[in-house]
Amino acid sequence: LSYGGKDFELPIIEGTENEKAIDIAKLRSQTGLITLDPGYKNTGSTTSSITFLDGEQGVLRYRGYRIEDLAEKSSFLEVAYLLIYGELPTQLQYEKFTREITTHTLVHEDIKKILDGFPSNAHPMGVLSSLVCSLTAFYPESLDPTRDEADVNLSIVRLLAKMPTFAAWAYKNEVGHPVNYPDNSLDYCSNFLKMMFALPAEKYEVDPVIAKALDQLLILHADHEQNCSTSTVRIVGSSQASIYASISAGINALWGPLHGGANQAVIEMLEAIKADGGDTKKFLNKAKDKDDPFRLMGFGHRVYKNFDPRATIIKKAADDVLGKLGIKDPVLEIAKELEYAALNDQYFVDRKLYPNVDFYSGIIYRAMGIPTEMFTVLFALGRLPGWIAQWKEMRQNGEPIGRPRQIYTGENERDYVSM
Ligand code: MLT
Repeated sequence: LSYGGKDFELPIIEGTENEKAIDIAKLRSQTGLITLDPGYKNTGSTTSSITFLDGEQGVLRYRGYRIEDLAEKSSFLEVAYLLIYGELPTQLQYEKFTREITTHTLVHEDIKKILDGFPSNAHPMGVLSSLVCSLTAFYPESLDPTRDEADVNLSIVRLLAKMPTFAAWAYKNEVGHPVNYPDNSLDYCSNFLKMMFALPAEKYEVDPVIAKALDQLLILHADHEQNCSTSTVRIVGSSQASIYASISAGINALWGPLHGGANQAVIEMLEAIKADGGDTKKFLNKAKDKDDPFRLMGFGHRVYKNFDPRATIIKKAADDVLGKLGIKDPVLEIAKELEYAALNDQYFVDRKLYPNVDFYSGIIYRAMGIPTEMFTVLFALGRLPGWIAQWKEMRQNGEPIGRPRQIYTGENERDYVSM
């Protein structure tokens, strides 16, 4: 057999058809015809022109623009437009885009009935993914894979518009409060915050410091090339399932503690260190201890062998926001101490373990009054334009239906013996 300019000697394969097939599959994996890569750790599973990431250098760019510049100078909706349509919007395009989004913030009253069916202890991520998926039933034209671009765009705008409403309502369901309807006089983040926090018969003013900080956090979470939730959106979308079903699948993937749930785990870890007296060195030593290991949450990332650039921006934002809100959170000091100690410890330096995006974000969310179980929901709100852009790109490239190959490792063939 010749493959990739190399010749391979094929063994004479004997046995049943099944045994031959297994031997051929093993041979394929040995010769490189198949690479065994559970979790797609190292193989490129797709091409994409949306987000550039260089984990060695700690560089992240959306459509060529540095994340640092976007986080400082753009709004979340500008970044959403950039990711989805490939260019930063002109003033006119931006006005049209925000106007369209504002027009679609309301949701069908029957969706509220679905919300009312959830028990109040339902996790907001489960509620969010269900409500997003339910849009397929309310807009059945989204099931037609041949619909035109204008119609696809309408679905995209609907999703961006309704997601803050769903996210805030998922929270209201959890706390057992009546929902607030969108206030279309407000910007994207202020509207979300008002729907989250306003109580009936009470005047609620959105704090501009909080709205601005949230907008920046959403930008920092807006895309991160291929990862568990994004490749889920692409693979579900590759079967031509509706955009709403595909994004709902991404929300479910993000829900897990190893993905979007990680910043909650960081806060819990920092609280545990504080409760233990705040000795960060003690916990760093525990993290190195092979016999009694302690998982240092928020450190290290599959692709970053350098600073996660998002973590650097979030650390600065944590100082700014807590300072402006006049909040002193001892956990922020513990986080900084932990980072400093780890970056000066050869063990962590050798392993290139730097703080990642989840390390400081929970501290800001807490300062904004966002409860821990809503952290992942905010991640989903931020990641939405990235998922949409990836879904759109997959569709435009006419990518085939996803179907990972497998290498069978089970029994060859067994005789069936009945009981
Ligand atoms: C993300 O932003 O999605 C996370 O850092 C996870 C990842 O990229 O693998």
